[in-house]
Amino acid sequence: MNFRNRVVFVAGGSSGINLGIAEAFAEAGAQVAIFSRSAEKLAAAAVQLARHGGRVLSFSGDVRDFEAVSQALAQTAAELGPLDVLVSGAAGNFICPAASLSANGFKTVVDIDLLGTFNVMRAAWPHLRKPGASIINITAAQSWLAVPGQVHVCAAKAGIDQITRTLALEWGGSGVRINSIAPGPIAGTEGMARLAPSPESVDAWTRAVPLQRFGQLKDISDAALWLCSEQAAFITGVVLPVDGGLSLSGSGAIGRAMVG
Ligand code: COA
Ligand code: NAP
Repeated sequence: MNFRNRVVFVAGGSSGINLGIAEAFAEAGAQVAIFSRSAEKLAAAAVQLARHGGRVLSFSGDVRDFEAVSQALAQTAAELGPLDVLVSGAAGNFICPAASLSANGFKTVVDIDLLGTFNVMRAAWPHLRKPGASIINITAAQSWLAVPGQVHVCAAKAGIDQITRTLALEWGGSGVRINSIAPGPIAGTEGMARLAPSPESVDAWTRAVPLQRFGQLKDISDAALWLCSEQAAFITGVVLPVDGGLSLSGSGAIGRAMVG
């Protein structure tokens, strides 16, 4: 797909799934800005993205800090132009049963994932191309499936998908589309290192996926590029699982994989 000179901002873009998305846009000709905390990770990611020849901007900041997010988005628009694509994928995750989870532990994940997504979208609003911009929020099956040890993530991701639907309604008149992608287990990511830390749990997760495999970064970036393309121009407010059918297995299968 051709995204030549389009402007793409990826919150949480310095590693994993979000970096995979940023790189796919860079490969398709886009100018890409990434935003996350660790300056070291950002520097390595920027080198990786610059290999594709387009302009790359990187900003160190926390999605919980509205001012930091706002400044990064304003600078991106000033240097590269209005945003064609916004990806909100910064997140934190760990397994912890609710009875052991502190209030601050719950709040921390909700603040990064849910408040962070609102901050990114709200701060981007003045800089979105209208009409034409496309927003992708990164969610998970925990949005609609109850998963033990994940009350913080289930609450945060469900909230994100309600933001997707609500703002698709509010912003549709401006020609801005908003969708969520819910990845299944993706190989080689920090998220799965945390949720499947042993070979036994990797096997259990694999058995829980109807297609019987983990996904690859490209499975997610292909879906993101398609959702932001002209081919998906009439799609908004959708939560798209890209998960090999994992969510069809239900809470029980995921719960057993989580502790297996
Ligand atoms: N189990 C239970 N509680 C935990 C925890 C764990 N594994 N890790 C952190 N917490 C709690 C802390 O105890 C603290 O609560 P307290 O003050 O009541 O003790 C609270 O969460 C905040 O921890 P802190 O380390 O200060 O948060 P942070 O903002 O520096 O980091 C995290 C956020 C915890 C989500 C961290 O794991 C992170 O930065 N993750 C990003 C990468 C990631 O998770 N990638 C996968 C994406 S799916
Ligand atoms: P990852 O590599 O840890 O990516 C998380 C990114 O967000 C990093 O760039 C991280 O960089 C950044 N980030 C974290 N906290 C931040 C904060 N407070 N402010 C700004 N940036 C922050 O994890 P991943 O596994 O690829 O997950 C990416 C997304 O996919 C997440 O939304 C996750 O919930 C979702 N997902 C993943 C899977 C999977 O299989 N991995 C499955 C379903 C859904 P810093 O830490 O340097 O800030």
